[in-house]
Amino acid sequence: MNELKAFLLQIEKEVEAELNRLLPAEEGLEKRLYSAMRYSCLAGGKRLRPALFAATLAAFGQERRDWMPFAAGLEMIHTYSLIHDDLPAMDDDDLRRGRPSCHRAYDEATAILAGDALLTHAFAVMLSIPAEPSRLCRAVALVSRLAGCGGMVAGQAAELASPPESIDRQRLDSIYQGKTGALLACAVLSAAHLCGADEQQLQDLEIYSYQSGRAFQIIDDVLDVQGDAALLGKTIGSDAKNATLTYAGLLGCEKAREEARRSAELAVDALRGFDEGADLLRGFPEFFVSRDR
Ligand code: IPE
Ligand code: IPE
Ligand code: MG
Ligand code: MG
Repeated sequence: MNELKAFLLQIEKEVEAELNRLLPAEEGLEKRLYSAMRYSCLAGGKRLRPALFAATLAAFGQERRDWMPFAAGLEMIHTYSLIHDDLPAMDDDDLRRGRPSCHRAYDEATAILAGDALLTHAFAVMLSIPAEPSRLCRAVALVSRLAGCGGMVAGQAAELASPPESIDRQRLDSIYQGKTGALLACAVLSAAHLCGADEQQLQDLEIYSYQSGRAFQIIDDVLDVQGDAALLGKTIGSDAKNATLTYAGLLGCEKAREEARRSAELAVDALRGFDEGADLLRGFPEFFVSRDR
């Protein structure tokens, strides 16, 4: 666990530097847009998707240095999803990463545009890395599918289309697989494609990603009930306010935590075909269920 924590700190630094370098400078007529993009991306955040990307490269024995722009692109997509998730038309949350959410610090129109621009800029950035073209194509195609209507955006839409009375485990699992699991899968599977993973490895890593994502989101729900707002940097009670039924609401926090633990075990089991190069990846699920931020 200590090794993973040190790795996460190192990745935070590297991603911060990449984002700083790759985001447009705050100048010109569009200054407000660029400023909002930087505000949301450079506001802390655990950088877990870049870390999963880098840990997957490590599992294949691949150096990450030249490929960190791809990781920064993944973080731009994640940040865009948070900016739009916080909008009044979605979760209507005022706090994110310990400061006013983008539409509160700027305005709604700027927040919508900052999200749009982060999503599109991310693709240019991901395509800029020096990788074998057919592998890079596969990786980017996967991200465009899983970040959008074949994954994250679909999950957000499924949540909106699910009033509390329609919620059961199956429905929740499918929402979580979309809204949260898909971006974790983007990180892990894009790295695997870049490294030329075989079919079996891709299948194992897919199970790893979605079980990890399920564990991660269940704990996100529990922390929305039991967490410390100051540590989390976001408002507690958002799900209750929006009548969003979660595992915590469906089963209670303790049973929900058990569910998260079960998924974390399944995630680690899925890596049994990998050698010790995957030990960093093996640490994430336990970190997800024991986190307090
Ligand atoms: C929050 O993700 C959104 C969910 C999918 C639950 P994170 O908890 O990874 O957010 P940051 O990046 O650390 O702010
Ligand atoms: C966020 O889910 C998922 C995406 C942004 C895609 P939540 O709405 O449950 O996450 P928080 O609690 O706002 O971070
Ligand atoms: Mg939401
Ligand atoms: Mg939200």
